[in-house]
Amino acid sequence: MNREFAWGVATSAYQIEGGRYAGGKGDSIWDRFSDLGRLADPGDIACDHYHRWEEDLDLLAALGVTTYRFSTAWARVIPDGDGEVNRPGLSFYADLLAGMVERGIEPCLTLYHWDLPQALQDKGGWGSRDTIDAFARYAGIMAESLGDMVGTWITHNEPWVSALLGHLEGVFAPGLTDWTTALTAGHHMLVSHGRATRAIREALPGASIGLALDCRPSTPADAASTEANRHFDGFRNRWFFDPVFGLGYPQDMVAAYESRGRLPKGLAGMVMPGDLEEIAAPIDFLGVNYYTKIRVASGAEERDDPEGPSGPGPPPGYTEMGWRIDPAGLGEFIGRVNDDYSPASIVITENGASYSDAPGPDGLIHDTRRIEYLEGHIAEVARCRRDGIPVDGYFVWSLMDNLEWVQGFSQRFGLVWVDHATQERIPKDSYYWYRDSIATHH
Ligand code: FCB
Repeated sequence: MNREFAWGVATSAYQIEGGRYAGGKGDSIWDRFSDLGRLADPGDIACDHYHRWEEDLDLLAALGVTTYRFSTAWARVIPDGDGEVNRPGLSFYADLLAGMVERGIEPCLTLYHWDLPQALQDKGGWGSRDTIDAFARYAGIMAESLGDMVGTWITHNEPWVSALLGHLEGVFAPGLTDWTTALTAGHHMLVSHGRATRAIREALPGASIGLALDCRPSTPADAASTEANRHFDGFRNRWFFDPVFGLGYPQDMVAAYESRGRLPKGLAGMVMPGDLEEIAAPIDFLGVNYYTKIRVASGAEERDDPEGPSGPGPPPGYTEMGWRIDPAGLGEFIGRVNDDYSPASIVITENGASYSDAPGPDGLIHDTRRIEYLEGHIAEVARCRRDGIPVDGYFVWSLMDNLEWVQGFSQRFGLVWVDHATQERIPKDSYYWYRDSIATHH
């Protein structure tokens, strides 16, 4: 980040843009997943941000954020993933970026928030090493074309989710269910992170580059679950954090996966010479996405289920995703990341809460539970900074209610309410609260 402290909000292309067929865009694996009826609501229109981006940038400007984290849709820029560049797609992002710059908002651009071009999936997707080169080429094209307006780059968002939920559990696009494919896909994403980092640096030597890892701190459910908890941490966190910081894949997990026959011909069948060095390319900041901390019981060491019920009317202490609220978990995890990996800088690239509070008779949205959630987590960030840990930014997920992947519009994370029938946007109480907090702290 280029600011002293970045105050921001985050979104992603598929969740807000819509414009599925606009300007020559190609399909992504999420368009296909939507066509297969796997999403509670189709993603073709989402928040129609593709047509309403100026209004959305005005909302950002009035909110007073220093920085906006958004993602670009690979298939909008390169419809088949590795062929011709689609000029109208690139122009859309050039206009959007110029709009940010005009409003004094620093862009933070995520290149991959899970929306692989379907044409690449048809050729093997992240299971194929060719996708690594295609991603690095896309990164280089973006840096060369838009680099004059973008100083901060994120290669991947949450590779665990994209690799494991997409290729092992099959609940996210592309909907595959195979351990070896999932681990291979995750590995190729990591290598592509390193290769893309190099491509961006070659084009933009002064760029600030990182990736956003999802973190799921955990605690044993009982005295008998210590080993299960350690395994969960390896499965969920260390498998991605360790190689990015040059430690290679964690030995205990390699042994566990090899003994269960999940790695293609062992680790050596997946990790080619030079891969680990590429993955460990120096980064300028680590993005941490945090929502909850979970309790792990023996037998559930490879499960990451919400602990509460999903949907409206959650019990106190839970959000509507069923996630338990634990702000201290964020502070602990930041401390641990700092101790274990010493990143140059840590940025909380996502944190937020889903509550469906709707406009009341006064037309306003009194989402006090969201305000409490954000307040608690921001206090942890402040505490870490006082302890001398380099936490340099905080991004609320999300600017506005959007398409929450397979759960569609049922989950509302926004500071801004969106009426999905009319596309009307109404700032919630949390929007004004965040605006005032930024103004006070900044
Ligand atoms: C994260 C994703 C983001 C959003 C939030 C709720 O895992 O990165 O797109 O869905 O969860």
